Amino acid sequence: MAETALQPRRLIAPLFVHEGLEAPAAVASMPGVMQWPLAQVPRQAQQLADLGVGAVLLFGLPRTKDAEGSSAWAEDGIIPKAVAAIKHAVPDFPVITDVCLCEYTEHGHCGLLSPTGDVLNDESVERLGRVAVAHARAGADLVAPSAMLDGMVAGIRSALDAARAEHIPILSYSVKYASAFYGPFRDAAGGAPRFGDRAGHQMAVTNAREAQREHTADVAEGADLLMVKPALAYLDVIRTTRDRHPDVPLVAYNVSGEYAMLMAAVDRGWLDERRAVLETLTAIRRAGADLIITYHAASAAQWLAETD
Ligand code: PBG
Repeated sequence: MAETALQPRRLIAPLFVHEGLEAPAAVASMPGVMQWPLAQVPRQAQQLADLGVGAVLLFGLPRTKDAEGSSAWAEDGIIPKAVAAIKHAVPDFPVITDVCLCEYTEHGHCGLLSPTGDVLNDESVERLGRVAVAHARAGADLVAPSAMLDGMVAGIRSALDAARAEHIPILSYSVKYASAFYGPFRDAAGGAPRFGDRAGHQMAVTNAREAQREHTADVAEGADLLMVKPALAYLDVIRTTRDRHPDVPLVAYNVSGEYAMLMAAVDRGWLDERRAVLETLTAIRRAGADLIITYHAASAAQWLAETD
């Protein structure tokens, strides 16, 4: 009678690749999550593929940052190198890349800034197009723009098409709330804004109807998959999205703060990790997500294999 199934192939595992590291570095606020040196990335991908996880989502930490985030679109940047290395080692394992500038700009914002410190929307979208093209040329299967800038999907679509990457789909972070739950990620990816916040382009926590307008706009611009992020405090938005956009694959991002909360309680012996994780992921599926980006991907895939 189970109405909802959770399978490893529905999970997407984020992976942090650090250009400046020789050995893996633990992320303090996310127990069990590491930043990986390039050399170890293929083996990590292989392990995830062996567990039946659906895909990997790559985030890059570059050696150098500047005001524009130019290392983000370098053809020999950390993400193109990581994509090529994974595709060489595990050719059939789907690789998704995060397309944003916040890990590459010295100020930590998701785009170029005006003299007054506001994100310059259209100039930034043009740069995101270059990033997506660099990732596609390296062999990425899918690009995931996360800046939530206006016109981002259309800009990236035309940049990809012009670069003969018409076949690369776009997973848009179509509904991304300005959330407190990204805090630990900003430690993991080194992309915290030095000043200000992202409330100018991310969604207000108060708004659910606006979320549907955002999805509709992104579908019109050519988004192939939609996203709701974070997941747990936004299960209502996931459900409404599933109902209002029944034809578009829907991804939910079980974000860093959700992972950190659960793992902190596990660490104190207050929650049973396996039960709490599988319940959480099942609930996100029940709300209507097809795919879940989660830092629990490897352990959940393992548990699911054991219970089969
Ligand atoms: C931005 C980006 C963020 C996350 C994914 N992509 C952070 C932000 O918008 O500040 C957060 C993911 C998480 O918290 O797990 N490139």
